[in-house]
Amino acid sequence: MKAPLTLDVNGMRHELEVSGETTLLDALREELGLTGTKKNCLEAECGVCTVLLDGKAVNSCILLAHQCEGRNITTVEGLARPGSLSPLQQAFIQHGAVQCGFCIPGMLVTAQSYLDELDGRAPDRDEVREAIAGTLCRCTGYSKIVDAIEAEALRLNAARWEAC
Ligand code: FES
Ligand code: FES
Repeated sequence: MKAPLTLDVNGMRHELEVSGETTLLDALREELGLTGTKKNCLEAECGVCTVLLDGKAVNSCILLAHQCEGRNITTVEGLARPGSLSPLQQAFIQHGAVQCGFCIPGMLVTAQSYLDELDGRAPDRDEVREAIAGTLCRCTGYSKIVDAIEAEALRLNAARWEAC
């Protein structure tokens, strides 16, 4: 049976009607058309469905949409303004970190969560690898992805010092 649901996604409020079994992933993709969040294993193994829930990276395939009412949800579409790329997305391109692209939305969201939590600390490559360990990439070997995230962390820290 469907029930009303309000979801706050990428700064916009949406009124939906979905069943109690609908996952957050399906609500995002099928009800809101936000197909940047990918669908694959459906058992919290691959990370391609990662979104931010109140700023924390979570697997949207194992969350029920109704559990997320009143929470702030950010999908890959919300990382940048429409028609533009976020600095992190630009870093991925500059460092050649994208091949087939299937893992990249989840990887970007996971990396954004890591960067948000860095809070001025120097990035550490092992820490970056650990942060993205839940998002599987079958193409890149991860090194260029780590390069991109590290570069963006350094850029953010430099900007922070300049602003002081
Ligand atoms: S689809 Fe959610 S972790 Fe794989
Ligand atoms: S770029 Fe293909 S799975 Fe990561």
